Amino acid sequence: MGSYYNPVKIKIDSLEVIENVLSAISYKPSKVLLLTRGGDFSTSQAGQTLEKYLAKFEVRQLEIQISNPDIEDLFRYVQLIKEFDYECIVGIGGGSVLDLAKSLAALKKMKVDSVSILRTLIKDKLYAENPNRVPWVAVPTTSGTGSEVTCWATIWDNANGVKLSIDTENLYAHTAIIDPALTATLPMSLTASTALDALCHATEAYWSKNSNEISRVYSLEAISRIVQNLEDVLTDPQEVSLRKELALGSLYAGLAFSNTRTTACHSMSYPLTLELGMVHGIAASITLAKVMEVNFASIFESDKLLKAFGVSSCQEIQERIEYFFKLSGFPSRLRDFHANEEIIEKIAGNAFTKGRMDNNPVDMTKEEVKQILMSIY
Ligand SMILES: [Fe+2]
Repeated sequence: MGSYYNPVKIKIDSLEVIENVLSAISYKPSKVLLLTRGGDFSTSQAGQTLEKYLAKFEVRQLEIQISNPDIEDLFRYVQLIKEFDYECIVGIGGGSVLDLAKSLAALKKMKVDSVSILRTLIKDKLYAENPNRVPWVAVPTTSGTGSEVTCWATIWDNANGVKLSIDTENLYAHTAIIDPALTATLPMSLTASTALDALCHATEAYWSKNSNEISRVYSLEAISRIVQNLEDVLTDPQEVSLRKELALGSLYAGLAFSNTRTTACHSMSYPLTLELGMVHGIAASITLAKVMEVNFASIFESDKLLKAFGVSSCQEIQERIEYFFKLSGFPSRLRDFHANEEIIEKIAGNAFTKGRMDNNPVDMTKEEVKQILMSIY
């Protein structure tokens, strides 16, 4: 039983196809808003490829210097580009760049005069019916977030200590270009944290209340590719054939959770990030095996899940994840992120994100969440 939907055209190909991808958009856009990461992107190989293959378009480039965009960042970017009448967006980068591309596609020509208006607009989902929304093309340069095949974007509201979401079915990318060569220069810590994020997307999709026969196929394929190849990628990061395995693992994880969403691990990850500054993939995966223990009796065909991990118990998964943390330089205990019991109490209280915790196959109390957190303290 179940249904599956994902409208993104996926091209596993070189970035050079970008010109053909844009030309294939029905109304033939000529003005392109290009979102890239900051730093040396323009002089990188990918930057030069884009310059060559976007030559016939009028391009305005917006360099994204930040990660985990806050609502004030989004407001600033809306102001920066409001004079440019872009007809489509190309986002090339990690999850933050792709989420901003998706957000700016949703907000095209909307009247946003202040951060508080933007906050209301997002909370009330006023962007969902925006007739001026434009298509966007996703080019991920990390293997993890899955933003290229999901219809939601995370925007943080640090002033109020909450995570906001821009989320509607018409925000799927027009096309996702998966070019594993773009990930070859990613540093070890980012390679590991994004891959572990994808591992959570796949695993949580597998046991989600919304899991189905189609999403579970993507989940299992994603898990085995990530678990089998992550150590080798960390050892030999420039090897594009290994990078392709992680890129496919991340893509399949994205396709799985695009239809199921995530569960308790992601729900707990948001206050872990807000309170302890943990990067997203680490905040999500640090509880993965412990949540699996709680969920285990409720997981459909749990034997297939263990087999995809190549293990026979949740404890072995805990050990594998701790090993990946160690290889990439992350501690695996909350005390090393400067947690204490008072902070853990607060995190447990804020761990019940709507649409995430209630998507977990087993209901948890605040006390049970606290026990999980204390078990990795
Ligand atoms: Fe995630």
